[in-house]
Amino acid sequence: MEVERVQLIASFCASDEGAMPPEFIRSDHEQPCLTTFLGPAPAIPVIDLAAFDGPEVTRAIAEASREWGIFQVVGHGVPEEAMRELQRAGREFFEELPQEEKEKYARKEAGGGAPASGGQEGYGTKLQRELEGKKAWVDFLFHYIAPPSKVNHRIWPVLPGTDYRKITEEYTKYVVDLVDRMLTELSKGLELEDQALKEAVGADSLNLNLKINYYPPCPRPDVALRVVAHTDMSAMTILVPNDVPGLQILKDDRWINVDYVPNAIIVHIGDQIEILSNGIYKSVLHRSTVSKDKVRMSWPVFCSPPGDSVIGPLQQVVNEDNPPKYKAKMFKEYAYCKINKLPQ
Ligand code: SIN
Ligand code: FE2
Repeated sequence: MEVERVQLIASFCASDEGAMPPEFIRSDHEQPCLTTFLGPAPAIPVIDLAAFDGPEVTRAIAEASREWGIFQVVGHGVPEEAMRELQRAGREFFEELPQEEKEKYARKEAGGGAPASGGQEGYGTKLQRELEGKKAWVDFLFHYIAPPSKVNHRIWPVLPGTDYRKITEEYTKYVVDLVDRMLTELSKGLELEDQALKEAVGADSLNLNLKINYYPPCPRPDVALRVVAHTDMSAMTILVPNDVPGLQILKDDRWINVDYVPNAIIVHIGDQIEILSNGIYKSVLHRSTVSKDKVRMSWPVFCSPPGDSVIGPLQQVVNEDNPPKYKAKMFKEYAYCKINKLPQ
């Protein structure tokens, strides 16, 4: 089966709005033009990890995770150069590799078993089944970056002008450190041992998956969505965006835009941290809108427990007054229910 890549559809309808296939037009309750809050809205917190150490950072992170479920970090220790190189490599894959080269990395489900593909990993166009048969305006490349035992380098693209592997391995080192720091701060914010959350999500077996999202310009930004509203099923997501905004979050029943902050990294609290904290920290509902004339790209790293880790509210955060609000279950069962839209 041939897969229609959004990048190709976008090139056909660049000069003709009417050519946009109807399956990209969302129903009224989702259309950005009808649902984006345009009044003055508070900006999501920006936390400088380098400005101060100790309790102030812990407090800021814990508060943002309780109130927002998302924040941006600066002073995060990931060098600008490593972020720029990551972005350059991703752009090269989408914009400079000929289509038939890209298809060599196609995910199995998406295109009938291209040689380099391995299960969920690879080049694709749709990650989740969607309601009402609607489509999201995005192509992506998706693969493990850690732990080393899970990494399949055959999925990592070979690019003519760029050492994708070196750049991605370099970025991975910094992300591992940043995730450690976040999990420590979030543990302290719950008055737990520093390592409590890290151990709960599998310690060094924590799975890190990099997704490179490519959202071409779209002739109807008023009615299409790049990515439909969802919370991440991960424990936490660490995301580098390019400078074309588009991410929106639901706060107090309003869809508000996340500003672009140069060199900042966006941290999403995912479902697993919400569950472990028994709802004290919130996983954020978010979506992504399209732009008429610019390409948005984003590089989320999903940090998820191994499939057979049992995740439920931590004993230390539940008591008679705060009984468990979530069922404990293996992460792979949680993921199966979430992907297939079954009750948890
Ligand atoms: C998502 O979380 O799936 C959207 C990511 C983005 O482009 O900001
Ligand atoms: Fe997401």
